Amino acid sequence: MILVTGGAGYIGSHTCVELLNAGFNVTVFDNFCNSNPEALARVEQITGKKLELIQGDCRDRAALVAALKQSQAIAVIHFAGLKAVGESVEQPLWYYDNNVVGTLRLLEAMQECSVKTLVFSSSATVYGDPVQLPLTENHPLSPTSPYGRSKLMIEEILRDLQHSDHSFRISILRYFNPVGAHPSGLIGEDPQGVPNNLMPFVAQVAVGRREALNVWGNDYPTPDGTGVRDYIHVVDLALGHLKALEALKASQDAQANKYAGCLTVNLGTGRGYSVLDVVHAYEQASKRSIPCQIAPRRSGDIACFYADPGRAFELMGWQAKLGLEEMCASSWHWQSTNPKGYQS
Ligand code: UD1
Repeated sequence: MILVTGGAGYIGSHTCVELLNAGFNVTVFDNFCNSNPEALARVEQITGKKLELIQGDCRDRAALVAALKQSQAIAVIHFAGLKAVGESVEQPLWYYDNNVVGTLRLLEAMQECSVKTLVFSSSATVYGDPVQLPLTENHPLSPTSPYGRSKLMIEEILRDLQHSDHSFRISILRYFNPVGAHPSGLIGEDPQGVPNNLMPFVAQVAVGRREALNVWGNDYPTPDGTGVRDYIHVVDLALGHLKALEALKASQDAQANKYAGCLTVNLGTGRGYSVLDVVHAYEQASKRSIPCQIAPRRSGDIACFYADPGRAFELMGWQAKLGLEEMCASSWHWQSTNPKGYQS
């Protein structure tokens, strides 16, 4: 049994599908603060399998202990957390409480229950402004927002914990820009309010919910002047979690932690696409036109950001397989069949 915190969220729900398909039993622990229970019904529909649900908050240690005992989990995948950069600047204490304190409580509960295998959702945002591209895991860590710093603080806590107790097997996954949806069109990203991120905004323009995309700057030193990012299909990302679990298990079976610390890897494709590349690919996938207007740069944005995904391949045999076309096609399938997300 795997305990999945935040399992009803965007990346969590896609990972639950892959876990169930691979034969794992799954218990989701979620407070639904930014997710919908309907996502879990859809996960069951896609897989034809049942999962367990415990509604709870990660800051509630007793609830976590009860969940670990009840589920008899052997490992935890920890997605639960807040993730909007702008919101984190406005409400940093809320972010540190949910993300950092929530993770501390989870680790205490895991220690108490002797569950010592953890896969953690970090973010490539821990690197901050790139000094060198592509970004390798050895790049200096210097996040530029409270959200990013909350992820870095958790990473440091995990490294300290693993150092103090070698029986902990921990994987830190640094995601680049997750996009797309399950090919069934039944689950996908369901942002509340106006989307901050590019692809969900483009999707809502394509479906007619918004008039035009603001392109935040076309004067960056990139081929077409718009920002370049490493977009990764959420299904590839979900599969990365299974590979991380497998790699941790293998190191446990070998009776030695061959990673000498936490297994820390980038999950990206290694390929960068510009805002306009994404818009054009989405127009092809949706057969709709996406009106764009050039707007001033968004504060805090950088020109270019993409991964060196080599270590994930070397240590866990993981590699992204799906390209921009599949990312846009699956996003469009989800958006066009669920124009208002799970409330459709
Ligand atoms: C953002 C977060 C990052 C987080 C990631 C999650 C910031 C500074 N960074 O990354 O911490 O991990 O989301 O996926 O917020 N764009 C537009 N118009 C829009 C929206 C975006 O032109 O309406 C452009 C941006 O300027 C950027 C690219 O699209 O060049 C991608 O933006 P976005 O999807 O928000 O991701 P990041 O900023 O890379």
